[in-house]
Amino acid sequence: MSVLSGKKILLGITGGIAAYKTAGLVRLLIKAGAEVQVIMTPASHQFVTPYTLSTLAKRPVYTEFFHAEEGGTWNNHVELALWADVMLVAPATANVLAKMANGLCDNLLLAVYMSAKCPVYIAPAMDLDMYVHPSTAKNLTTLTSYNHVIIPAEEGELASGLIGRGRMAEPETIVSTLEASFTQDLPLQGKKVLITAGPTYEPIDPVRFIGNHSSGKMGYDIAKEVAKQGGEVVLVSGPTNQKIEDAHVEVVHVLSALDMYEACHRYFDQVDVVVAAAAVADYRPKEIATQKIKKNAEEFTITMDKNPDILASLGAIKKHQYLVGFALETENEVEHAKQKITKKKLDLIVLNSLNDTGAGFGKPTNKVTFIDAAFTVEPMDLKSKEEVAQDIVNKIIQHYE
Ligand code: CTP
Repeated sequence: MSVLSGKKILLGITGGIAAYKTAGLVRLLIKAGAEVQVIMTPASHQFVTPYTLSTLAKRPVYTEFFHAEEGGTWNNHVELALWADVMLVAPATANVLAKMANGLCDNLLLAVYMSAKCPVYIAPAMDLDMYVHPSTAKNLTTLTSYNHVIIPAEEGELASGLIGRGRMAEPETIVSTLEASFTQDLPLQGKKVLITAGPTYEPIDPVRFIGNHSSGKMGYDIAKEVAKQGGEVVLVSGPTNQKIEDAHVEVVHVLSALDMYEACHRYFDQVDVVVAAAAVADYRPKEIATQKIKKNAEEFTITMDKNPDILASLGAIKKHQYLVGFALETENEVEHAKQKITKKKLDLIVLNSLNDTGAGFGKPTNKVTFIDAAFTVEPMDLKSKEEVAQDIVNKIIQHYE
């Protein structure tokens, strides 16, 4: 999934021949999962129709302040500007660049631009001579000084037949510039995080296993939050109904504790952080029957072997990695959790106490206490699992600050 998924993009289209390319641009943005609100200048209608764009963007296109056709609606420029996560003016003609640089505000698009608090991206497009005119250069410098990002026009054959700089950047280039803008400056940019999630299934025979009730939600929520904060995730997941679709999350599906152990060790060298949110079975059947076991005997005993402690095994070989573990305790909670920090060489433990109402398996909420390697104890309020995931990721971010 693209980082643009769910992002609100105001696309301002002005009156140049490159406006025809915005149909392709809107398609790419919608395909990336963005919401696109198109605002056109009246002149741009000559180059691409509002109907094309409203069909592609799946919402009405605005040009005028006042909408007689829509029963007299007022297109509130301030509301439109506040709605947006980013504003993109593409193509931006020489005329519109000049107006934006000088605060002229004689149409809806310019009024929205003047009200916008979000980042502004500008993709100029004009003929060669207009592009190299000192006035255009001055306006582009002014707009850069407003902290706007200019997506430079490209060299090539122009509509006039001249060859040179002036062609609007290709829609693919514009989309990747916007994508980069949403990933840069995020606190976990450049960090790779290994997360374990869900239960493990320990096979008894080809059709049976020993498992547990872990839903996997906590680990998946942490994975989503890490990706949102710019990190790359390797999510080693036991069997769950949870779903995640994110270009920054690689899901490695495993069944048993031994599979999970093997997957974690395969990725450990590449990662900066480990969050062990999985409910790993402590034991596994010693023998796995090759055929389905028949119910002949009156009593049936399974002999179990101890599974490796995945987190402790990573703690034993860790170099730079920051290790986060979970502990579920019923008595002497803080003491037991501190012992786990030492035993597993953890940097942070997220303690769940079953004595807290609202905490535990299958619940939408969780009440946790953070304990770090210096044994600082920080009890948190009862929160949704999404909020707990945010708190855990914030702890990781603080470590890198
Ligand atoms: N864990 C693990 N591999 C295991 C068991 C646990 O990686 N085989 C991880 C869990 O993902 C969790 C942490 O270790 O982050 C704590 O697990 P928990 O079951 O609370 O503690 P244990 O160390 O197994 O100790 P005990 O069951 O005796 O309380």
